[in-house]
Amino acid sequence: MKEGRPSQTAEQVALTRALATAEAPADRICDDPIALAYLGPAARATALALSPRAARAAWRLAYRLLEWGGPELFVPARTAFIDEALLRAASRGLDQLVLLGAGYDSRAERLAGTLRGVRVFELDFPATQARKLRMRPPVPGVVYLPIDLSRQPFEEPLLTAGFDPSRRSAFLWEGVIYYLDRPRAAAVLDAIRRLLAPGGSLWLDCFVEPPALSLPYRLAWRAGIAAAALVGEPVRTTLAPSEVQSFFEARGFGIADRADAAELSARYLRGRWAGLRLFPAWCCLDLEAA
Ligand SMILES: C[S@@+](CC[C@H](N)C(=O)[O-])C[C@H]1O[C@@H](n2cnc3c(N)ncnc32)[C@H](O)[C@@H]1O
Repeated sequence: MKEGRPSQTAEQVALTRALATAEAPADRICDDPIALAYLGPAARATALALSPRAARAAWRLAYRLLEWGGPELFVPARTAFIDEALLRAASRGLDQLVLLGAGYDSRAERLAGTLRGVRVFELDFPATQARKLRMRPPVPGVVYLPIDLSRQPFEEPLLTAGFDPSRRSAFLWEGVIYYLDRPRAAAVLDAIRRLLAPGGSLWLDCFVEPPALSLPYRLAWRAGIAAAALVGEPVRTTLAPSEVQSFFEARGFGIADRADAAELSARYLRGRWAGLRLFPAWCCLDLEAA
């Protein structure tokens, strides 16, 4: 992340959710009517340009011609996966929710009913959080903590802000782990595990190195990674398919639910997206502290 500059990928994923929300209900993968509020002029113009029926039809056709659906379908799918995990946890009883690298996540507001009585903490890179709070007023009751996860420990600030490790808690780490290097990602996971009582939850997505791909798709994968580096948010951590389970188990987490790209496609690509497959690098996890 570039010092003093808000995350661009955070705005891109908000744009993706805004576009998904503009779909007809039968084709809608996730529902985030607040996402639009976080878009600057360029992203807002893109949202408007892609809203007309013809533009959306062209976009769908492109995905049908290509073999796999891209981030525009994956991001809403991962949001739906995490929303469902959050609803399950809330129905069992939840006291605290921590969003790490919250970006323009609007759950504190759009799921306010589900989160009634849940103490919410949002931690993010300082410039991203400052922009979020400029674009839309803070949600009453939410605790906002500016933290650079790549260099600052967050346990102490979270505890000082009132987080109680003995309560029923969940951490949400959506779209972030791959931007940290592996030792730092592991350190954050270890800290989350120390803060969670057994049975607590962690929801996240990660990049799994795709299996043998044809040359155009190998290049597309590399180009995607290079594009993230160009906006100052290089991908630093990917996992080999064989280590997904052991990486998290070694840090004290069991897998309660795992959806790789094929499973995410089956669960969430609905309506006119049905039958499409997501690019095989994506994976969403619902982890439980052992
Ligand atoms: C792709 S966005 C995802 C945002 C949000 N979780 C979502 O899914 O809408 C990546 C987020 O990670 C945050 N992030 C990246 N590196 C970070 C760091 N070193 N410390 C804190 N936050 C970081 C960015 O500020 C941004 O909000």
